[in-house]
Amino acid sequence: MGRLINTDITEEDKLTEDKLRPQRLSEYIGQEKIKEMMTVYIEAAKKRGEPLDHVLFYGPPGLGKTTLSGIIANEMGVNIKITSGPAIEKPGEMAAILNNLAEGDVLFIDEIHRLNRQVEEVLYPAMEDFAIDILLGKEAGARSVRLDLPHFTLVGATTRVGMLTAPLRDRFGVVQKMEFYTPSELCTIVKRSARVLKVGIDDEGALRIARRSRGTPRLANRLLRRVRDFAEVRYDGHITADVADYALDILDVDKIGLDQNDREYLICIMDKFGGGPVGIDTLAAALSEDAGTLEDVIEPYLLMNGLIQRTPRGRIVTEHAYAHLGHERMGQQSLRF
Ligand code: ADE
Repeated sequence: MGRLINTDITEEDKLTEDKLRPQRLSEYIGQEKIKEMMTVYIEAAKKRGEPLDHVLFYGPPGLGKTTLSGIIANEMGVNIKITSGPAIEKPGEMAAILNNLAEGDVLFIDEIHRLNRQVEEVLYPAMEDFAIDILLGKEAGARSVRLDLPHFTLVGATTRVGMLTAPLRDRFGVVQKMEFYTPSELCTIVKRSARVLKVGIDDEGALRIARRSRGTPRLANRLLRRVRDFAEVRYDGHITADVADYALDILDVDKIGLDQNDREYLICIMDKFGGGPVGIDTLAAALSEDAGTLEDVIEPYLLMNGLIQRTPRGRIVTEHAYAHLGHERMGQQSLRF
């Protein structure tokens, strides 16, 4: 999906996200519960002079899992090695990555649910005993040698915690769910990013961007960049509420952050399935979309906003969804609320 509010990371995001990432827990906005817990765990580990326990972050994409891992490494005063599940294809590659870590280092594996089985099995003794078993020789003469590893911290991230195998999930001492951000938290993030990017923005302009960012900092920062383009070309470069609304209307992101794909999803259930309930696979087929993408990318935000409900018999759209889209269908797109 090439949509503006797809939460998958783009090349352009990568360039700015690195610049915008906070380096310390004190600079990190939102996820208060996680911050509080991590502060305690980090301090306790440092006091004992031990590496931090393995940590798993899960939740929708774009909420700051990679950023938090970098912060953990900074706060522990160690290096971080960043990789991802699909990037490690062979057990030997995983063994080499682990063997090259220094004592206390953080190994961050994004999309950890996508590790293949053989690679994942290298992680079990690595996480539990800080060792890997290497098979030497072939067939009858083969023997296994245990190689000790440095004491490292594995930080795993996943958008699909249900797809993790039980043995892997059970080896994480700390498991944390990332929550969507509130508009007020996103507003603070937008203002901070604008400062880093040297863009002028007022409070109301930042809030308008925040409200349309579907609880996701990655989107808030992406919308900020797009609105900045309009501000520079069509206005005097300063982002106000009017500039933000003008740009975001053109970009087809509505007042609560829904885009064309969300609207198609809702209208499909309304028109083709009488408002539901409809099973995810039937719906995916009707929309020519992958069921997993609907579940991971489109539905979480619609669920959080009470626009749909998941029931044992399938998805249903709520009155709130009818009211929200009804406004638009009655030709009130230009109303600001
Ligand atoms: N940029 C992206 N996510 C952030 C967060 N949670 N706090 C501060 N800046 C951010």
